[in-house]
Amino acid sequence: MIKQLYSYIGNYKKYVMLCVMFVMVDVVCELMIPLLMSKIVDEGIPSKDIYFIVKNGIFMVLLAAISIMAGGLNMRFSAEASQGFAANLRRALFDRVQAFSFSNIDKFSTASLVTRLTSDVTQMQNTLLMCLRMLLRAPLMLVCAIFFAVSINARLSVVIFIAVSLLIAGIFLVLRPAEQKFAEMQKKIDNLNGTVQENLTAIRVVKAFVRERYEKQKFKKSNDALTEAAINAGNLISLIMPLMMFVLNGATLIVIWFGGRMVAGHEMGAGSLISFISYLMHILMSIMIFSMIFILFARAEACAKRILEVVNTKIDITDNDDTDHKREINSPLVRKGKIEFRHVDFKYAEGGRNVLSDINFSIEPGEYVAIVGGTGSGKTTLVSLIPRLYDVTKGQVLIDGIDVREYSLKQLRDGIGMVLQKNVLFSGTIRENLMWGNENATQEDIEKAASYAQAHDFIISFPDGYDTRLGQGGVNVSGGQKQRLCIARALLKKPPILILDDSTSAIDTATEARIRKSFSENLKDTTVLIITQRISSVKNADKIVVLDDGRVVGIGKHDELFENNRLYREICNSQQEGLVI
Ligand SMILES: Nc1ncnc2c1ncn2[C@@H]1O[C@H](COP(=O)(O)OP(=O)(O)O)[C@@H](O)[C@H]1O
Ligand SMILES: [Mg+2]
Repeated sequence: MIKQLYSYIGNYKKYVMLCVMFVMVDVVCELMIPLLMSKIVDEGIPSKDIYFIVKNGIFMVLLAAISIMAGGLNMRFSAEASQGFAANLRRALFDRVQAFSFSNIDKFSTASLVTRLTSDVTQMQNTLLMCLRMLLRAPLMLVCAIFFAVSINARLSVVIFIAVSLLIAGIFLVLRPAEQKFAEMQKKIDNLNGTVQENLTAIRVVKAFVRERYEKQKFKKSNDALTEAAINAGNLISLIMPLMMFVLNGATLIVIWFGGRMVAGHEMGAGSLISFISYLMHILMSIMIFSMIFILFARAEACAKRILEVVNTKIDITDNDDTDHKREINSPLVRKGKIEFRHVDFKYAEGGRNVLSDINFSIEPGEYVAIVGGTGSGKTTLVSLIPRLYDVTKGQVLIDGIDVREYSLKQLRDGIGMVLQKNVLFSGTIRENLMWGNENATQEDIEKAASYAQAHDFIISFPDGYDTRLGQGGVNVSGGQKQRLCIARALLKKPPILILDDSTSAIDTATEARIRKSFSENLKDTTVLIITQRISSVKNADKIVVLDDGRVVGIGKHDELFENNRLYREICNSQQEGLVI
């Protein structure tokens, strides 16, 4: 896991190297200072050699200056490396999500993806930052300080070893349960994030159902749980500081006790004792730092797992073996718009039930085909197979006689204009939104597409016309206007195949009839597949496909079906009754 994460440091590796270098310089300089100090006290002062004292004093100042500078540079480069790492990680995540197929997307909630892209990445960034600052420093400091301390007085170093063992044992006892508490806390944070994001994404629904009080309670519960977990973890951690102080002061006391006797017996200089104590502190501090990093790692592990889960998700619909580019050149183009389903079965999840069973029919180029059936009968699923939003489980879908899997995704989807049932517009002007369909479209193209979709009139009735800014998700246009803009956007591609999935549900019947009329006049060569609940919009279709529970139960023109197909007749009759009442 660490290896894979390390690879995301990428071109910032040189900063990591610089960090390592400056940490070394910093540590060595810092540890030399007590040594010089002991020389001044033990040699300079007794012999009253001012020159020696000043020389070593200046040396100490220099070392301190170098150490500070190296420390500062380490800070700078570690910041740069960790920022770069986070940026690379975010990009990798974002790119991967962009490549996701629909079934990949089904597996992750939007809220969890947002958390992974933001707070998880930030947590990883902080972990790297701390590692570069502390993790390198602690072991180096430990080893060097032990070396210097032992070289000053090996016998006295026994105290250090006892103190270190005590501290490690103590920290271990505290950290084991704390690690668990931190893992719990991380889970509570995830929970809170989930609650907040789900609520904010659907804030309008929350308000429409007057669920604010319930949502507030749900939030309070997550929030309180997090607070409690954090306090629990904090309480444990707060034990470490007194423990540390106890060991540190105890050890200092013992060192002074025995060391003092040695100094009195002229076995050791007073200066050596002072620097020995200073090394003792350095050693114990680095062990503390180790323990902190341990906690940090425990917390980062969950984040790292979540990030890598996204990055390592296998994308199930791709342009196979070839690079995208090569495939695009070799790929056939969708030209005529003939669609064939050959004994197609489909299920969403492995081991699940068939959502579509043995679908077998074909649509000729330029036909106007309607798909009808109750909700959940599989209409949306059926049309999703055409642009490969999902891949068939069994059988084949062919366009112009070629299996859809033979096309590159770009050529395939460029050839199909699709208006999804749950369609959205993006924040930006109307023109920008429409040009998603074709980025080279001229104003004339745009207006033509908009007028086919019966959107031109209402667009120019806005004060800013095509430059009207849409809010996020198109909040400032009505449902029917939004649907017409979505249709126009799909038309702008001039695709040989156009699929409208319940895309006229919010449009009044008169306007819908005008759209239908303009399609039949202007899009004669386009194969149009329309899913709708309204019988009035399918009456004139060249072909009506009746779906029931994932099976085709009837195909034909309105009159034939009305006569021979029970289900179709029921749908028609239910709408007639509606009209009578
Ligand atoms: N992304 C999905 N994952 C799992 N099951 C799904 C998904 N989308 C739809 N289904 C299921 O597939 C069946 C057909 O759905 P759908 O094609 O949307 O029906 P329709 O468009 O006719 O209302 C339904 O039972 C629905 O629960
Ligand atoms: Mg549907």
